[in-house]
Amino acid sequence: MTRSARVLLAGAAALAFASGTAHASAAAAQTSPQTQVPVAPAEPDWARPDAQMDAFIDDLLARMTLQEKIGQLTLLTSDWESTGPTMREGYKQDIAAGRVGAIFNAYTAAYTRELQEMAVEGTRLKIPLLFGYDVIHGHRTIFPISLGEAASWDLDAIETSARVSAQEATAEGIHWTFSPMVDVSRDARWGRMSEGAGEDVFLGSEIARARVRGYQGEDLGAVDTMLATAKHFAAYGAAQAGRDYHTVDISERTLRDVYLPPFKAAVDEGVATFMTAFNEYDGVPASGSKFLLTDVLRHEWGFDGFVVTDYTSINEMVPHGYSRDLAQAGEQALNAGVDMDMQGAVFMENLARSVEEGRVDTAKIDRAVRRVLEMKYRLGLFDDPYRYVDAAREKATLYKPEFLEAARDVARKSMVLLKNEGNVLPLAADAGRIAVIGPLADSKADMIGSWAAGGDRETRPVTVFEGIAARAGNGVSVEHAKGASYEFADAGKTDGFAEALALAERSDVIVAAMGEKWDMTGEAASRTTLDLPGNQQALLEALVATGKPVVLVLLSGRPNAIAWADENVPAILHAWYPGTQGGHAVADVLFGDYNPSGKLPVTFPRNVGQVPIHYDMKNTGRPIELGAPGAKYVSRYLDTPNDPLYRFGYGLSYTTFAYSPATLSAASMGPGGSITASATITNTGDRAGEEVVQLYVRDLVGSVTRPVQELKGFEKIMLEPGESRTVSFTLTPRDLAFTRADMSHGWEPGEFQLWIAPSSGAKASTPVTFTLTE
Ligand code: BGC
Repeated sequence: MTRSARVLLAGAAALAFASGTAHASAAAAQTSPQTQVPVAPAEPDWARPDAQMDAFIDDLLARMTLQEKIGQLTLLTSDWESTGPTMREGYKQDIAAGRVGAIFNAYTAAYTRELQEMAVEGTRLKIPLLFGYDVIHGHRTIFPISLGEAASWDLDAIETSARVSAQEATAEGIHWTFSPMVDVSRDARWGRMSEGAGEDVFLGSEIARARVRGYQGEDLGAVDTMLATAKHFAAYGAAQAGRDYHTVDISERTLRDVYLPPFKAAVDEGVATFMTAFNEYDGVPASGSKFLLTDVLRHEWGFDGFVVTDYTSINEMVPHGYSRDLAQAGEQALNAGVDMDMQGAVFMENLARSVEEGRVDTAKIDRAVRRVLEMKYRLGLFDDPYRYVDAAREKATLYKPEFLEAARDVARKSMVLLKNEGNVLPLAADAGRIAVIGPLADSKADMIGSWAAGGDRETRPVTVFEGIAARAGNGVSVEHAKGASYEFADAGKTDGFAEALALAERSDVIVAAMGEKWDMTGEAASRTTLDLPGNQQALLEALVATGKPVVLVLLSGRPNAIAWADENVPAILHAWYPGTQGGHAVADVLFGDYNPSGKLPVTFPRNVGQVPIHYDMKNTGRPIELGAPGAKYVSRYLDTPNDPLYRFGYGLSYTTFAYSPATLSAASMGPGGSITASATITNTGDRAGEEVVQLYVRDLVGSVTRPVQELKGFEKIMLEPGESRTVSFTLTPRDLAFTRADMSHGWEPGEFQLWIAPSSGAKASTPVTFTLTE
């Protein structure tokens, strides 16, 4: 059955679920307010019916033994690296024996050729291997971490990053990336927040689409595009207490309204593969969840690609307490809808017996094998298994100057100016003596963050100190002292302080580059505090006490609790982990060669006790605004305000923008209609700058309670000093859909508030109201 046929069969529920298409209409609205949201997503090129392919695969399947089929459902790591317990030392023997269909953690033209030859020349049916890898934010040329890219709110920039990644990775023999990670995450303790697009459903869905477009391009058969993977399906970001791999226990409504939409958006964009999650959902490990892998993914959404597990997650169904033993785990996984087993070798070692004993149907195995073979076919591997193996292309492609320039551009677009009191920034070209201090000031390894794929951590990354030194004008002295440590164990130490303070004293301005070590975010990197680790806070306080102006450049992969810095440090720039060219990008922003335009894709709490905190919370029956100041019986804390330190959508510029109140094209819309909201934004400062204009909506009354605000559109615009621009967003009823009381997905008639604002902080200060009629 073709993908589009399935979509049609899936019916109204699947079609109505397409919340990810909302922004497309909003963005398009500027040029064409009449643009309608397409009813069904366009079919991806790889899903088009192909009779020749079907005949080829029918023939191949008919000739395959059960063991050969199971081999196609097996993905093993090479011995280059691993992110979990490596379980098969003899992966090369497995390839030679036809027991493996795909390999990950192997790249370079030479190495993939060596392994491909083993599969193609050594095995009976000569089926080529598929090579996968975690190409997350760049392959060799590393871009900012994914959360940083999300802070750009620049979908073209994000797509470019994915496109460059695909060009470099495919030049090294890689066919398949385990990206995008589209887990919504609202708990800064969870280290993997750094790998996604932050806390928001709408922004996350748009970014998921941009990344899939970038990796897969228009044609999966082109040699410089690769299969993308939407991961980790699903709700991995809701791990209890922010502890990685921990239990997830959320309602189906929250699952559907918050965690699933970015996955659905990836399907709509034509993502080729899905990866399961490590966590359980509603008592069932994701790799064994028929509800997620079959009912939702296949039946509701019509997904036609293949599903791979996360690393040994079938095996982990035993310690989860869901499977008696590995044999049962393999059966449960395959029967639930898994197609490929990553690294666990559970299928390889157990599935044949399960088939022979009647616990797994051969038709299900054939279906999974077909899905895998189809992707190999679409990539052109049956025509030429070596078509991605080209040493000359590899040499000509990696670290191309335009890739490095793109990485620098995306990095500066990702940075968020959190504070700039007294216009400490931008630094003047003749800034005098600049001290660059902190454990992240001159650390190449940290610049590229975690999941830096094939990134070089030792020589290529440009550090903050190097970037500033390269940019500073003649006669400006730039000196560096490490001063402090980010290691947890160094908390009470002060050994480097004297040297750093002496440097500070003889300088005119201090750039403090502080934050977290690169591997304090990413997988298995959860924290119970969000402060600056080690002895950085103490040094920061001592630097501020010198009375010299201090600029804090924060490098980390999560929101940190920096309330003290917000009170006491005049300028703060969040630079995430900005990648290979990061130091140059930091200098571009600090010296004003680039006017910062990033906005936070996550809420920054004041302290860890506010977590989880996000901008689109519910009002409760006792909202704090209802009580007199200090009232007791309202929803609040005794020791901390409810408000976060920095809000979702917040970020400053070196210029200022004024917003007119929003206006509406009509006071109401009916089921088949649309409504256009507009506001005029003016650059009221004296520099050109970009602004991320945001559209928020509140559904006042529902059959279930609704959030106090929800992002429904955004657009990044560039304005010259004094220039004004009217930005318009068109909404249709479908953009206002949610999971209703009866669990159906759709909208409800009623009153809505809407406002267009520079961040989520405006919270209906000047809303306009419209009605959605029956
Ligand atoms: C991670 C995945 C990753 C896989 C392969 C796992 O530990 O959870 O995100 O793609 O390893 O490296």
